[in-house]
Amino acid sequence: MSTLVASPKPIFDQIHLSRDLLPQQEYTRPRYLLEGKVQTWAGEASEVASPIFIDGQRFVLGREPKLTQEAALEALRSATRAYSQGRGFWPTLPVSERIRAVEHLVRRMRALREEAVRLLMWEIAKTRLDAETEFDRTIRYMEDTVHALKEIDRAGSRFVVESGFVAMIRRSPLGVSLCMGPFNYPLNETFGLLIPALLMGNTVIFKPPRFGVLIYQLLLEPFAECFPPGVLNSVSGDGETVIGPLMRGGEIDILAFIGSARVGALLKSAHPRPNRLRSVLGLGAKNAAIVLADADLDLAADECTAGAFSYNGQRCTAIKILFAQRQVAEECAARLAARVEALPLGLPWEPEVRITPLAEPGKPEWLRSLVEAAGSQGARVINRGGGASERSLYYPAVLYPASTNMEICSVEQFGPVLPIVPFDDPGEVLDWMAASSVGQQCSIFGRDPRAVADLIDPLVNQVCRVNLNSQCQRGPDTFPFGGRKDSAEGTLSVSDALRVFSIRSLVAGKATEGNQALLSRLVSERLSSFVSTDFIF
Ligand code: G3H
Repeated sequence: MSTLVASPKPIFDQIHLSRDLLPQQEYTRPRYLLEGKVQTWAGEASEVASPIFIDGQRFVLGREPKLTQEAALEALRSATRAYSQGRGFWPTLPVSERIRAVEHLVRRMRALREEAVRLLMWEIAKTRLDAETEFDRTIRYMEDTVHALKEIDRAGSRFVVESGFVAMIRRSPLGVSLCMGPFNYPLNETFGLLIPALLMGNTVIFKPPRFGVLIYQLLLEPFAECFPPGVLNSVSGDGETVIGPLMRGGEIDILAFIGSARVGALLKSAHPRPNRLRSVLGLGAKNAAIVLADADLDLAADECTAGAFSYNGQRCTAIKILFAQRQVAEECAARLAARVEALPLGLPWEPEVRITPLAEPGKPEWLRSLVEAAGSQGARVINRGGGASERSLYYPAVLYPASTNMEICSVEQFGPVLPIVPFDDPGEVLDWMAASSVGQQCSIFGRDPRAVADLIDPLVNQVCRVNLNSQCQRGPDTFPFGGRKDSAEGTLSVSDALRVFSIRSLVAGKATEGNQALLSRLVSERLSSFVSTDFIF
């Protein structure tokens, strides 16, 4: 095997722009959401450019506000006023009314599906299929979250009598939540935070991700229509200018952030009241696939190709390193390389395309440097054309034989490069995992129950999900999604997210006749949102 770098098929020079492909709305006015109104920002704005090049330039899609520190603090004041130390309209609203607001948002969003999909295709180069899946998954997540909240609320809509006490125990909000998701799932991951935050009665400030911002320009009107003033506010611009001051002020109660471990740690440490702050974090990962000698190699190659190269490997759950037992390592690498070679490259709207341009400027150059460094340490790109690039497009590369001392084996590449490391004893892989600073998921490919069991038991204590003969992934969204070490704080899922954005509170008293009569009147005269036995259908 040798390094094979074919000259790439140019894709950008063949684009014929047609109105049918482009987003249909204008995004030239930089706007944001404050105090329940869509505001036009008169200050500095940044250009939103696509990773897709037209006539040699990144195609410009619109403009995004670069808020000042003062404007960001205004968003904080708006959210703080709406919460009013728990006395605001939203945190005291019956759960059924908050559910109604989110259901209204679902209805409004459905009508925007095609425009949202086009924005995802143009701004982050997600294939049409993946963009549609992200949109539909988000709608489903919202509906499932409403369903899960109804279940939680029904369980809390009753009195508990225990040891001479009578109590009503429910979940209540925590306060002002700052929600920030990543660019690879600009809609789904941010909504995975802000929807449960809102449903539980918190007020929210959200910042759209680095790329994938325009979908939020599209959603500003629906947001303004569905939520009362101050309940949901947006900030955008430079993170240090707009987020730093929010954290340093100490008024944020929940930091909900999906991004790098470095930024997560910086944000947390900027908050002056660490005991007040609840952190919900999804951070870095270096998920490994382990292919044992008796594995079904075709199945492993199929799953690992999807696991490592879906959306160009830009998923936190992507398989980012593959360990293959030495007897089958070369064959495993060859089967994977053949599949990767067959992945169609191109533009997001082209049917069947799997590999698309990368949203982060400078990314192909960085991937190239990692691959070159691995090459100088003895690994080769074994798929034809792998490792070539054309502007923002990077041709996926399978590296073999890799070794764990290579930089590509420790950094989170978040791109279409997969190193394959041969191993003799599974204990070597366990040692690598134990030494890793992250611990999200892994995949085991094998058939022998004893060998698989020997890996499962230590691995469930290293990561939060062990996938059997299947790629790593977050879904189904009802499954717990978390991580150890520098991978996460808190667990997300449809129902877990409702828990992390709330706290249990109770109203309790001695079960005296007086208290029982008092509680009965609270319920029968419907005087309290909290002390209520209403059943939400
Ligand atoms: O980027 C991280 C996402 O949560 C991964 O979700 O496994 O469904 O692609 P996924």
